[in-house]
Amino acid sequence: MAGHPYPICLDAKLEDIGKHLQRTIQPGTQILVVSQEKIVELYFQRLAAGLREYQVQLVTFPAGEEEKNLNRLQALTTEAVAFGLNREGVIIALGGGVVGDLAGFLAATYMRGVRFLQVPTTLLAQVDSSIGGKVAVNHPAGKNLLGAFYPPLAVWTDFSTLDTLPWEEAQNGLAETIKHAILGDQELFDFLEKYVEQIKKREGSIWREMISRSIAVKVRIVSEDEKEKGTRALLNLGHSFGHALESAMGYTGITHGQGVSIGLAAAANIAQQRGHIKSQETQRIHTLLRDFGLPVNISGVTPEQLLLKMGADKKNREGKKVIILPVRIGRAMAFRDCSDDELMQAWREVVVC
Ligand SMILES: NC(=O)c1ccc[n+]([C@@H]2O[C@H](COP(=O)([O-])OP(=O)(O)OC[C@H]3O[C@@H](n4cnc5c(N)ncnc54)[C@H](O)[C@@H]3O)[C@@H](O)[C@H]2O)c1
Repeated sequence: MAGHPYPICLDAKLEDIGKHLQRTIQPGTQILVVSQEKIVELYFQRLAAGLREYQVQLVTFPAGEEEKNLNRLQALTTEAVAFGLNREGVIIALGGGVVGDLAGFLAATYMRGVRFLQVPTTLLAQVDSSIGGKVAVNHPAGKNLLGAFYPPLAVWTDFSTLDTLPWEEAQNGLAETIKHAILGDQELFDFLEKYVEQIKKREGSIWREMISRSIAVKVRIVSEDEKEKGTRALLNLGHSFGHALESAMGYTGITHGQGVSIGLAAAANIAQQRGHIKSQETQRIHTLLRDFGLPVNISGVTPEQLLLKMGADKKNREGKKVIILPVRIGRAMAFRDCSDDELMQAWREVVVC
């Protein structure tokens, strides 16, 4: 990747990670593995089997977005100190996006930075959060408010870890994959449409193809814009709407994937109103989302509340809302001229009484 290249190892077996590390990390080096209990039960033994030449210490914290905060960072820091982790040490994040963001922020800040590896175990983490070098914790004033660009040494992606992922968690990653298809890979969109049933049945070869293509879109975009100065904004497709929705609902009763899904539906609606895409393309987007059990409508909030929340989006620039819209399936662009009337209309189309 531009500036800070690192390998993204796909279909890599957890137990083989040691062979990869031996090339760059001395035997005997301290490795702190950060994870969550459920993931440890499922996968830690396999990971540890490949790390016998190192001094490994495992630390865990409870699952949940609410754990991604400064208190938990401090507790993990205390455990790292108790282990005696020094500047030569390495931190491995074994888990989903919460583990990756928190362990990554710990790695970025502990002793001003220690080496870090991502071992993503959710679909969202494999196609999205482990790639691009962003790490963060939340603050009461905002999600991911304290963060850094801190690329890992490598991303070690073992597709087999997804076998145990609950379907609702898979849906969060599918929403991001559909986003990647809409903004950057028409063939991926066609592929998702064609293999809906196989994807729902989790057929291995189809998932491998889907994940690899989804990752390729993210890699292409973040490689062009490592520090989020330009094209990386395209990854925000559906998210300015989704974040507004999650925030208006107080982050309860709606998953991130559901927010993104409704956001993608709303973005398609505006794009159609403006003549960027045809009604048939909007329909394809809505149908694909619904095929995976993702919503395209919401109730319990008003369009007015949602528009207000959009004004607070941290991705807005110079007081203007930056809205990413599809201009065809497979391509998106950033717009700064969407009027509040247009946005209200888009919200009215997705909000049902
Ligand atoms: N850094 C970035 O660029 C970036 C991008 C997108 C999202 N994120 C962040 O990612 C986080 C969401 O990540 P997520 O969706 O992976 O959620 P998550 O990390 O909370 O994981 C979801 C649940 O799945 C469990 N789990 C993980 N792997 C499992 C497996 N293989 N089998 C069974 N259960 C498993 C976890 O323990 C957890 O309970 C958010 O905090 C978000 O802000 C970061």
